[in-house]
Amino acid sequence: MERLPNLIIFLNLLLMASTLANAHVVKSMFPFGDSLFDPGNNHFTKNCTIQADFPPYGSTFFKRPTGRFTNGRTVADFISQYLGMELQLPYQELRQQIANGTRKEFPDNGISFASAGSGLLNTNADCGISPIQVQLQQFQALIDNNHIRKDQIKNSLFLLESGSNDIFDFHISLFPRLFPSAHVEKLVKVVVNVIDKLTSLGARRIAIFGVGPMGCIPATVLLPHLPIAPQTACNDRINNMVTHYNTELQKLVNDIPKKYPGVKSLYGAVYDLTQTFRADPKRHGFANVNEACCGAGPKNGKVQCGLNGTRMCENPSDFLFWDYFHPTEHTYELLAKAFWDGDTKCARPINLQALVNT
Ligand SMILES: *[C@@H]1O[C@H](CO)[C@@H](O)[C@H](O)[C@H]1NC(C)=O
Ligand SMILES: *[C@@H]1O[C@H](CO)[C@@H](O)[C@H](O)[C@H]1NC(C)=O
Ligand SMILES: *[C@@H]1O[C@H](CO)[C@@H](O)[C@H](O)[C@H]1NC(C)=O
Repeated sequence: MERLPNLIIFLNLLLMASTLANAHVVKSMFPFGDSLFDPGNNHFTKNCTIQADFPPYGSTFFKRPTGRFTNGRTVADFISQYLGMELQLPYQELRQQIANGTRKEFPDNGISFASAGSGLLNTNADCGISPIQVQLQQFQALIDNNHIRKDQIKNSLFLLESGSNDIFDFHISLFPRLFPSAHVEKLVKVVVNVIDKLTSLGARRIAIFGVGPMGCIPATVLLPHLPIAPQTACNDRINNMVTHYNTELQKLVNDIPKKYPGVKSLYGAVYDLTQTFRADPKRHGFANVNEACCGAGPKNGKVQCGLNGTRMCENPSDFLFWDYFHPTEHTYELLAKAFWDGDTKCARPINLQALVNT
C-alpha cells in the first residue's frame, strides 16, 4: 500500500509532462532551404540531378533511402520531433499524391519546401532544383489556392537555412566575378526579401540558421586551388565568407522585432556549434571530424557517397561528416538539441523552445 501514493505522484508527473509537451501553440512547421533540410523534394522532382535517393543514404534511421542527404534524420526532422509532430513530408511528394488522388488535402503538420543544391541565388538551377524564390512561390500558390489556412500559418514555425551552396559555388570559380564582400551583400539582400515575403504571408515565428564552416567540409578537396591551413584543416577564405555572411544574418534577426512587429525570430549558430564539436570531438562523441564516413578519395571528399567505388565507415555516428558535403545524423541531433534548449551560444536571442512557447 505504501507504493500507491508514489504511483499516483508518478502518474501525475507523467500527465503534467505530457501537458507541458503539448502546451505550445505551434502545430505545424514549414522548412525552407537546401540539402541540410531536404526530406526528399529532389527525389520527387523528375530530371533533378542532385539526388541522395540511393543506398546507403538513410540507412541508420529510416533503413532505406528517402532522398535525405544524410544517414538519418535532419535538423528539421529533430525539431519536428521535439515539437511532437510527424515529420514534414516533401512538397513535391504531397503535390503528386494530391494530383493522382492518393491524398485529399495538404497535412496539418506543415510541408517541407527545402531542395538540395539550392541557394539564395540561381545556384545549381540547371540541375532541376528549386531555388529559394521558387520554394516561396510554391508556398504562396498553396495559400492562394486555399490549401493552407491563414490561422495555420500564424501558429507555425518557419525554418530557413540557405546560402552554403552559393558560398561554395563562389569558390569553385578560379576567377570570381565579384569581391567576396559583394557576394555576401547579394546573398543578404535575398534573405531580406525572403523574410519580407514570409512575414507578408503571415509568418510570425521564423528560425534562421547560419551557414556552417564550409571551409572544413571534406568536399574542399574538390577545390585544389584553395589552400587548406594545416592547423585547422580548413580553408580560411571560405570560412571568412561564411563568417561575414553569418554576421549579417544575425543583424537581420536582431532587427526583425522592430521591422516586423509581432514577428519573433532566432538565429541558430551552426558555425560556432560545429567548431565546438571540432575542437573537442571526444566530448561530443566523435572519433573523426575531418573525413566523411562515406565516399571515396582524400577525406572521402572526392566522390558522393553511394556512387561506384565509394565505401561507408562502420559506425557513422563516430563521424561529424556523413558524405563530402553533409553532416551525419549524430551531428544533426547535437545541433538540433542545442537550438532547441541551448543558451545564447547556440541560439539567440532565444532558443527554439522559447520561440514556440511565446
Ligand atoms: C525531363 O527530361 C526529359 C528527357 O530529357 C524531357 O523530355 C522532359 O521534358 C524533362 N522534363 C522536365 C520537367 O524538364
Ligand atoms: C501518387 O503519387 C505518389 C507520389 O509521387 C506515389 O508515391 C504514388 O505511387 C502515386 N500513386 C498512384 C496511384 O499513382
Ligand atoms: C563500377 O565499378 C566497377 C569496378 O570498378 C566497374 O567494373 C563498373 O563498370 C563500374 N560501373 C559504373 C556504372 O561505372
